[in-house]
Amino acid sequence: MIRLIYISTARSELSKAELEGVLNASRRNNAAVGVTGLLVVGGRRFLQALEGPADAVVQTYDRIKADGRHFAAVTLDNRPIAERSFPDWAMGHQPGRPLRGDGAVADDVARLIAPIADPTMHAYFAEFAKKHAA
Ligand SMILES: Cc1cc2nc3c(=O)[nH]c(=O)nc-3n(C[C@H](O)[C@H](O)[C@H](O)COP(=O)(O)O)c2cc1C
Repeated sequence: MIRLIYISTARSELSKAELEGVLNASRRNNAAVGVTGLLVVGGRRFLQALEGPADAVVQTYDRIKADGRHFAAVTLDNRPIAERSFPDWAMGHQPGRPLRGDGAVADDVARLIAPIADPTMHAYFAEFAKKHAA
């Protein structure tokens, strides 16, 4: 298994309905190929972790990168893992609160990653939340 983490930028901020569409497709497709992960949205920025069998993760990432709704995907991390950080989530996401102001993203992200042991994961998500919660 591998875990890949990337950031990207939305062409324009996704509406709630558009984001729901992305999450629904993600959960359906990921469940079929054994991919799990977490998608955090802060304004126009995405941070996503994809984990599972290497072939499935790479194919999923290739499809995601070709999606015209975002661009400038930068892979932050891509490494073999012994266990999943997000075993229960075909694609987890922070709850649908306002994305900006009042530190809502940071709080929600902190809650999502609280059960995760891996310090690298904590660092990526906590940093992202801090940067994009303002
Ligand atoms: C930020 C972002 C994250 C995405 N994450 C996933 C994902 O984890 N899994 C997935 O299958 N599709 C994901 N997608 C959607 C894919 O780009 C693509 O639209 C979808 O896989 C097509 O699936 P469908 O043919 O079943 O509709 C993501 C799209 C965006 C913009």
